[in-house]
Amino acid sequence: MTRIAYVDGGFLAHAGACVHIEDRGFQFGDAIYEVWSVRDGKLLDEEGHFTRLDRSLAELQISNPKSQAAYRLIIRELMRRNRITDGLVYLQISRGVAPRDHPFPKGFVRPTIVMTAKSINAEKTQNKAVVGVSVITVPDQRWGRCDIKTVNLLPNVLAKQAATEAGAYEAWQIDQEGNVTEGSSSNAWIITAEGVLVTRQADQAILRGITRGKIMECAQTLNYSFEERPFSLEEAKNAREAFMTSASSFATPIVKIDDHIVANGAPGSMALALREAYLAQ
Ligand code: PDD
Repeated sequence: MTRIAYVDGGFLAHAGACVHIEDRGFQFGDAIYEVWSVRDGKLLDEEGHFTRLDRSLAELQISNPKSQAAYRLIIRELMRRNRITDGLVYLQISRGVAPRDHPFPKGFVRPTIVMTAKSINAEKTQNKAVVGVSVITVPDQRWGRCDIKTVNLLPNVLAKQAATEAGAYEAWQIDQEGNVTEGSSSNAWIITAEGVLVTRQADQAILRGITRGKIMECAQTLNYSFEERPFSLEEAKNAREAFMTSASSFATPIVKIDDHIVANGAPGSMALALREAYLAQ
């Protein structure tokens, strides 16, 4: 089956799909993106990701070239053409193509839209959650607006590469105060000895994960208490449970942080219950 991508109004063979060399996304990282998970043929948290997409565009003053209804249609068509049952949909919007110059281009420039979709092995993802994953920690080297979902991901890429080289699944980033901000592509959570869920408040140091928001709703349904506040690496190492959330990992238990085994080294029951509740919604 030929993989199909969407680029600026057309469906193209993925292998040959491209954007112009002076696209500002390519030149400056002047672009934003969203990722939706597809499960059993359905898009998860569709609305939430669209709301964040609008916010990211507004923060960068990129005018949205299409209506939400149009994106929804294109996403469905892309899923259909790529026969996605379980997978991910990626949407990127850049400021468009213009001669390379740092300020925004003068006059109207049409933003570039790229969409791709890929299948993932749902069983493999589920198996990861059953066994639990390990994380390493790295200094948080990012800029001051991590709340905007831009394609400026170099520190995240380096963090994930370090994790991969260490045989870990994710890298937790640590700020100058010794607190965990978030993973390279996921939000970070712990459960204290008292059974309280803790995740950092959604300030400009982290991305306000759509999955994170949904997990909070699940926590309320399950009657789990939670706090949004910074937590230190030390606190994480002494936690009863740790886990991560993202569109691609849902909620996945963490059983090792650097060389430290979390609790008894098995996935925590609250993290697994939250994952189940999230997937059942
Ligand atoms: N990553 N923090 C960062 C830095 C992220 O890149 C992501 C998502 C999250 C979780 O957000 P959400 O729950 O909305 O997926 C938190 C996506 C999946 C990615 O970059 O592929």
